[in-house]
Amino acid sequence: MAGSLKIVILGSAAGGGVPQWNCNGDISRAAREGAGTVIPRTQSSIAVSADGANWCLVNCSPDIRQQIIDTPGLHPREPGTYGLRDTPIHSIVLTNGDVDHIAGLLVLREQQAFRLIATPAILQVLEENPIFNVLDPAFVTREGLLLDTDIETAPGVHIEAFSVPGKVALYLEEKARDADGELAIGAEGEETIGLRISTSEAHFFYIPGCAAMTDALADRLRGAPLLLFDGTLWENEEMITQGLGAKTGQRMGHMSMAGPDGSMAALAGLDIARKIFVHINNTNPALGEDSAERAEVSRAGWEIAHDGLEITLP
Ligand code: MLT
Ligand code: MN
Repeated sequence: MAGSLKIVILGSAAGGGVPQWNCNGDISRAAREGAGTVIPRTQSSIAVSADGANWCLVNCSPDIRQQIIDTPGLHPREPGTYGLRDTPIHSIVLTNGDVDHIAGLLVLREQQAFRLIATPAILQVLEENPIFNVLDPAFVTREGLLLDTDIETAPGVHIEAFSVPGKVALYLEEKARDADGELAIGAEGEETIGLRISTSEAHFFYIPGCAAMTDALADRLRGAPLLLFDGTLWENEEMITQGLGAKTGQRMGHMSMAGPDGSMAALAGLDIARKIFVHINNTNPALGEDSAERAEVSRAGWEIAHDGLEITLP
């Protein structure tokens, strides 16, 4: 249908994926075992289209090569018409500079034209890392994504970016500290953004990273037909209690799902028709298909995304 919005979840996991290559935690082990109690997931990315022919990718994970192979709509089209090098990927939009959202750009380096769209702050990060020059500027245009400004990122697909509480990417933290050595966490700027993605007839929100819920963000999301939201952690200390890391979710710039300050509580009562967690970390017990946490997620009216999930709006 013209004006409808097609969404494919290419990768539903946070950085590292499920299983993570070096992780011996219960969830990665279960995913590796293949018994179906934890389904393997690749790293965070979605594809959106209005016409089913031209696609805008949002975020570009190190797993992008496999994600494209697994998604027939993203394959090169018929060679008689489109030639021997082709892609229906029209553009790539970035929501932050995290490795799991930008490293896949290096995979897409074979002299292929597409538009690369990100906030000026994130474009500068790419600019300062010369390895991204493998995206030949003769083919790949870099376009600034201005906050609160509509941009058409593929035929009929419109995006409006807005700031959400977050922090700079892990590898930029030392550079970003202030004179007292403090790192801004939960800051709102161009480093971490959410997107309102729309066609003439449908829209949804995509927020794969968010450190906290603000009144302004809750107001923005009220009544939305669909929300894809940061599902990194179940609770703030899970990496520490599982012995898999030293950091809390807050320190990483992610609000948790559970608890009084969690996303399920913060987004309850906002009349959002469909709520799906994305960017799910391999420590999150809600990844367990039969877990108590998964049951709690379902009771709260949320879904846990899986790779290949397709949604058409309206
Ligand atoms: C995050 O979402 O917190 C980052 O992707 C973490 C990382 O860079 O591994
Ligand atoms: Mn991430």
